[in-house]
Amino acid sequence: MKVLVIGKGGREHALVWKLAQSPRVERVFCAPGNAGTAIDGTNVPIDVNDFDALVAFVKKEGIGLTVVGPEDPLARGIVDHFQRLELRIFGPSKEAARLEASKVFSKKLMRHADVPTADFMVFEHPETARNYVYTREYVVLDNKTVHYPFPKMQVVTEDGVKYLVHPVNGKKIKIGDPEPLVVKADGLAAGKGVFVCDGTSDAVSAIERIMTREEFGREAGRRILIEKRLQGEEVSLLALVAGRTIIMLPPTQDHKRALDGDKGSNTGGMGAYCPAPIGKPEVLDVASRDVFVPTVHAMRRRRTPFRGILYAGLMVTSHGPKVLEYNCRFGDPEAQPVLMRLKTDLVDVLEAAIEDRLDIYAEHGLEWDQRPAVCVVMAAGGYPDKFEKGNPITGLEKAAALPDVKVFHAGTRQQGTDILTDGGRVLGVTALGTTLEQARTRAYEACALISFKNAHYRRDIGLKGLQATEE
Ligand code: AMP
Ligand code: GLY
Repeated sequence: MKVLVIGKGGREHALVWKLAQSPRVERVFCAPGNAGTAIDGTNVPIDVNDFDALVAFVKKEGIGLTVVGPEDPLARGIVDHFQRLELRIFGPSKEAARLEASKVFSKKLMRHADVPTADFMVFEHPETARNYVYTREYVVLDNKTVHYPFPKMQVVTEDGVKYLVHPVNGKKIKIGDPEPLVVKADGLAAGKGVFVCDGTSDAVSAIERIMTREEFGREAGRRILIEKRLQGEEVSLLALVAGRTIIMLPPTQDHKRALDGDKGSNTGGMGAYCPAPIGKPEVLDVASRDVFVPTVHAMRRRRTPFRGILYAGLMVTSHGPKVLEYNCRFGDPEAQPVLMRLKTDLVDVLEAAIEDRLDIYAEHGLEWDQRPAVCVVMAAGGYPDKFEKGNPITGLEKAAALPDVKVFHAGTRQQGTDILTDGGRVLGVTALGTTLEQARTRAYEACALISFKNAHYRRDIGLKGLQATEE
């Protein structure tokens, strides 16, 4: 069988690499792909959103299975488009992909299905959103902390302490710490439309950037969510879903911030490891019962059943796991360590999902390498803000020669015999080890052999998992 993977990042390289291992697969194509997918498969220069050109290619080559990597073509209905033409494709329909494409849709669905998630409000106008944020500021009145309900009072600062000035009697009222909030654009924003705010001015500026300046586009910023900030440790839980069947994949932990110790800006993900000990069996049981089952059923009830990878970003709080967001596809970089550990033939699994036969795996689950895997993302200096492209990468072959190491390409392209950087996240250096510590050591040994100008990577990928295992 010939297979086509759509996308060009590290997740897609991992998919190409894994699918190519199936004895049933004759050839794997990737559209448009990167320098790595050209090594493990064959690149086709077609954009992920050019459905007509993709269909023409699939028909011409006689592709038997198409696998979609990124959210954008899913949200635009690539699966519906292929299915109308009776072409086999793995992923959710446009309506089902709204679980990721609209945060307002997904939060409302969670509320109706009673899925644990942070309390939230939806706003369509910046003014009302701002006023709400002001009402979340605490003030200290007669030694009691209350929400401040009047947004238009004057604020003065004396010795670093903020006071509200009463409009009638001129009395000063001390302002305490605001309630921690998170402001989110409704639509897709490549992981950048979420602002975890430290104070009122942060939240006000997030509203301004999303709704007024429309930094993430008019449509994505038409509505916003303001939700309570949750405290805890994050875990990514992915499940294969088709019909009523839900097959959970092992828990993975992403590292969203750019710098060590979870400092710096939010990125698409700077590294991941699997399995993550924070996903304890009891957390997985609760997530399955209270998150996946009610969500899958709610989608069926609205006649938009979900078929594909349902990815729940969870915060494990002191009151149990709560959903931060849904994605409707494999995570990136989560896919790299997960697929490195998967032993079951991926083509068989994806076909079973497409044909509503996923229940054949329900009893025993999928087969996994027992060894942990760690993926360290090597990024271009400056990412997630401005970064350079086109710098040559050296040491890839030496790194690839290390045992149980696979260097997945993300933002790379080939030029003659050179491999050049071509994106913010450049490589996902992934290793298996007998222990998490050994997997980490191997991944970092491989990173040390690779260089490109201003290369930057976190040194603490998997460290939380290691500390949890030691406890
Ligand atoms: P999202 O794209 O919704 O998953 O948000 C991106 C990141 O922002 C998450 O991985 C969290 O680190 C953080 N985040 C989102 N929502 C919340 C929340 N309610 N409380 C705390 N952190 C959050
Ligand atoms: N690593 C986060 C994501 O794929 O959305």
